[in-house]
Amino acid sequence: MAYEGSGRKKAVVLCVGQVVTDHTFRVDEVELPPSKTTARGYALSVGGMAANAAIAVVRLGGSAVFWGRVGRDEAGEELKHILEAEGVDAQGLLMAEGARTPLSAVIVDKRGERSIVTYRGEKLPTDPSGLPLDRLAEAGSLLCDPRWPEAAELAFRAARERGVPSAMDAEKSEERVLRQLVPLTDHAIFAKTGLSIFAPNVPPEEGLARALAAGPLQLAAVTLGEKGTLWRTPGMERAATRPAFPVDATNTTGAGDVFHGAYALAIAEGQALEDALRFASAAGALRARDGKTPDRAMLEELLAGETDQPSVRARRKA
Ligand SMILES: Nc1ncnc2c1ncn2[C@@H]1O[C@H](COP(=O)(O)OP(=O)(O)O)[C@@H](O)[C@H]1O
Ligand SMILES: [Mg+2]
Repeated sequence: MAYEGSGRKKAVVLCVGQVVTDHTFRVDEVELPPSKTTARGYALSVGGMAANAAIAVVRLGGSAVFWGRVGRDEAGEELKHILEAEGVDAQGLLMAEGARTPLSAVIVDKRGERSIVTYRGEKLPTDPSGLPLDRLAEAGSLLCDPRWPEAAELAFRAARERGVPSAMDAEKSEERVLRQLVPLTDHAIFAKTGLSIFAPNVPPEEGLARALAAGPLQLAAVTLGEKGTLWRTPGMERAATRPAFPVDATNTTGAGDVFHGAYALAIAEGQALEDALRFASAAGALRARDGKTPDRAMLEELLAGETDQPSVRARRKA
């Protein structure tokens, strides 16, 4: 494995898509409107699927290059600063004059479950033609979310041409965008809502089958929070479940983003599919438990202890 401490070169993941300022409010209950609620806590941080994934890649011992877009405003400068402080290569962050940086209000209740309102910004440039596609030469994998579809399409096509494996965070998005991008990636990993938009009114198993039929995919999967991840490859007769690691969740915000970053890193490191799913599940669980992205040592510890899970112990006793 090529991670810090192994003496070998770090695996590089190119992450393309969303970066937003997250304003997180902690409340006891999310009240239905009309309502007024006092927050028990507040924090400002970097959010966005691809940005969170890039930070996860670095914490987990890889290198991350991030391509996204913000406004040339105070929030945009701050996001660039935070990404760089996290060790992410953010040279490819487009800062557009006259555009407004996206932001989210994240409301987290006492069970750690969250509601998010996202403002996707204004006048963000769509043209991806200035992106330095040559950087794919150093990448072990590519990860795109659907929030800059023009860039994702360009990067997915270039990656496929060059034989760089790619993964997609197929989150809730316009149906048109999911249909456009899913066939272009190798590993389509949906969020629950993303899959129900891609394949409406069918069970998730059928949704995954449709994703596999849409293009030359190696894997289609859907993450289901504490219920784990349902996944399937073209060679499998039916979908299988990779269980989640049992944790006490305090804040599930970003669990999916971190899952995807970890998965893309595992692929870049050459891990087998099932190992990559396990690695990613451990990363998502730790993020949900701590509300913070774990480092590699924490993740390895959770992986090493998996045989010691209560469920496994119970099975051994039986
Ligand atoms: N409460 C949790 N306990 C354990 N693992 C979790 C929990 N929430 C998320 N995860 C892990 O993270 C993955 C992604 O989380 P999920 O909530 O499905 O994504 P998203 O944040 O995009 O909605 C899950 O498949 C699971 O492996
Ligand atoms: Mg998600």
